[in-house]
Amino acid sequence: MKPVRTGIIGLGNMGSSHARDCDESEAIELAALCDVNPDKLEEIGSAYEAMPYLDGNEMMERADLEAVIIATPHYDHTPLSIAAMERGIHVLCEKPVGVHVKDVQKMIDAYERAKQKYPQLKFGAMFQQRTMSSWRKIKEMIDDGLLGTMVRATWIVTTWFRTQHYYDTGSWRATWGGEGGGVLLNQCPHNLDLYQWLLGMPERVHGFASIGKYHRIEVEDEVTGVFHHANGMVGHLITTTAESPGTNRLELVGENGRLIVDGTDVTFDRNEQSMLDYSNTADQGFGRVPCTKETVEIPADKGGLHRAVTETFARSIREGSALVAEAPEGMGSVALANAILMSHFTGKTVDLPLDGDAYEALLGDLIARSTFRKGDTVSDGNADLSDSF
Ligand SMILES: NC(=O)c1ccc[n+]([C@@H]2O[C@H](COP(=O)([O-])OP(=O)(O)OC[C@H]3O[C@@H](n4cnc5c(N)ncnc54)[C@H](O)[C@@H]3O)[C@@H](O)[C@H]2O)c1
Repeated sequence: MKPVRTGIIGLGNMGSSHARDCDESEAIELAALCDVNPDKLEEIGSAYEAMPYLDGNEMMERADLEAVIIATPHYDHTPLSIAAMERGIHVLCEKPVGVHVKDVQKMIDAYERAKQKYPQLKFGAMFQQRTMSSWRKIKEMIDDGLLGTMVRATWIVTTWFRTQHYYDTGSWRATWGGEGGGVLLNQCPHNLDLYQWLLGMPERVHGFASIGKYHRIEVEDEVTGVFHHANGMVGHLITTTAESPGTNRLELVGENGRLIVDGTDVTFDRNEQSMLDYSNTADQGFGRVPCTKETVEIPADKGGLHRAVTETFARSIREGSALVAEAPEGMGSVALANAILMSHFTGKTVDLPLDGDAYEALLGDLIARSTFRKGDTVSDGNADLSDSF
């Protein structure tokens, strides 16, 4: 396969990792690198033969690219993705696809417009957890109807521990104007994406958040979301960046049993009879549905993660095969994050699809009223990201 001529915009923690992946991949020709910070551009760019640029639009104009990977702070995902697609350049965008649903809708509209001129155009999102064997297996089990009618999905994911130092490493981080949110926008897009990928979108959302409770930040660092689905299922998300040790446990309960994902262990409590049938027909009040515990065997490989998403993107461009995640599907995780915050700030349950104008106005108000001033940013040195995904 002829390598896809690719540029990367944003060379921080994630972009520099993508540069390494692209450089090592035979599917990609790392042709150009861009960062608005000249020191960063020099630091990362000097390790590769790619052409350096300080401006993403200039890079797209001059570098004769087929594809870009966008790894900038969140607000810039929208204008940069749109600018690329208008030029017929394929886009792989970091999560969250956008800060709020109106921005994501603008990207989807631009993609639809661009496809009329460039029908083969690809627009992917970096949801690398979808490559993990465990999640692929669980999706297959749910799609096959293993659990039957869904009753409850509860995800406690408090393994996103971050220190004050982390928040101090970037002026954009953990501000309404720079990042657009906290744990929901930065760490949880992966969980929210998996939630909607596995279970679909709820129709109503209620949320509670703590704003800068454990860190000197102006956005949420502790959240509980409650999701009401049209089929009656109730979902819960409990998350924070302030628990150590943390928990990562997802319970998926259906009439046929309970699937538990606890760290890397997956078990299935298989009911011998549907709980709903048993409940409706039992001739005693306190019985339980007999069930057996099974260990779900998950292949040992992790599934390739970022590198797999990037190489699948390149193959998709050349061969028309499927992406790991179509970027328009990123709307789901953004809508859930926005809805939880909207509910928190209004004290009301929020209907989906979310009112994008109302959420944009709320966010604009948070930005306008912000009195938070970040101190000097600190260096993250050679941060090891491997445990942070
Ligand atoms: N998929 C994952 O596992 C994962 C992990 C970490 C971060 N991310 C995502 O990657 C993105 C970047 O996060 P990060 O942690 O690398 O941030 P970072 O602050 O380390 O790096 C961002 C870089 O972008 C540069 N930049 C800012 N605006 C730019 C612009 N308009 N054009 C070009 N360069 C620009 C900055 O100078 C900086 O070097 C975010 O969307 C984040 O959510 C994804």
